[in-house]
Amino acid sequence: MNETVKTGVIGFPVDHSVSPTIHNHWIDEYQINTDRYKKINVDPKLFKEEVLRLKESGTLGLNVTVPLKELAFSFSEEQTEVAKQTGAVNTLTFKNGKVYGDNTDVIGFQRSLDKGTVENNITNKKCLVLGAGGAARAVVCALSNLGGEVFICNRTLEKALKIQKDLGIQSEVVEQENLSAVIGETSFIVNTTSLGLGDTENTTVDFTQVNSQVFVYDLIYNPKLTKFLSAAKERNLGYQNGMKMLIEQAAESFKIWHDILPKNSDKLMNIVEGL
Ligand code: ATR
Repeated sequence: MNETVKTGVIGFPVDHSVSPTIHNHWIDEYQINTDRYKKINVDPKLFKEEVLRLKESGTLGLNVTVPLKELAFSFSEEQTEVAKQTGAVNTLTFKNGKVYGDNTDVIGFQRSLDKGTVENNITNKKCLVLGAGGAARAVVCALSNLGGEVFICNRTLEKALKIQKDLGIQSEVVEQENLSAVIGETSFIVNTTSLGLGDTENTTVDFTQVNSQVFVYDLIYNPKLTKFLSAAKERNLGYQNGMKMLIEQAAESFKIWHDILPKNSDKLMNIVEGL
């Protein structure tokens, strides 16, 4: 593939990505003088070669998605503090012959939350993160930035311990079988695992044990209402899916490249939810 690209998303696979819809909506809305934002599918083995080619051909920036975020980190020559902390890069920028790496997932998660949720459910409160993959790293950083007391629970205990060590953030690791000991005191529960996609179901949390003030967040946005979120809804708990985070992380990347922080809107949410 030798297409020229100004901005786009690179991943493997990338066909499902809704980032082009979001970025192209803003390119039109803010009348940015640039090409359409594109999808680039690349085998991880060819990642460096392809990104170098794009850099040389005048690409301005790339979003990086699964499973290339760690590769993008090692490929970038200079990283922001937040990228260094998470060890993952979701935004590459090519400027003055150099490759810069940033991670906008952290700020994207923070901005996706309502002020009331932060004040009532996160700051100085116990926050439970389910999962210990790349997405969990960004969420743990964000919750810590917001003053949350972070608990991490993952199927594979070693990975939760590794996050704790790598991030250097004050947090506790909870074994799955001991979850009931902390669940009742938790004010915020966030699912960062892939459970809930396709036919899988997230049954990690026993909702009969959660308190009535807890806020439940699922990073998954397709389906819009996972069974995990349905369980929260049935109990009249506050809840949200990953759509706002997706849009907010995109907004921050857009700002890095085009120097405009675009706004989320009901119109954009409706477009993306309708895909
Ligand atoms: P991402 O970058 O999107 O976070 P990832 O790094 O592959 O993706 O992480 C996937 C997360 O979902 C991990 O926490 C994984 O748990 P393990 O570390 O034990 O693999 C979790 N996950 C995936 N499938 C799971 C399952 N069937 N049961 C429990 N957890 C699961």
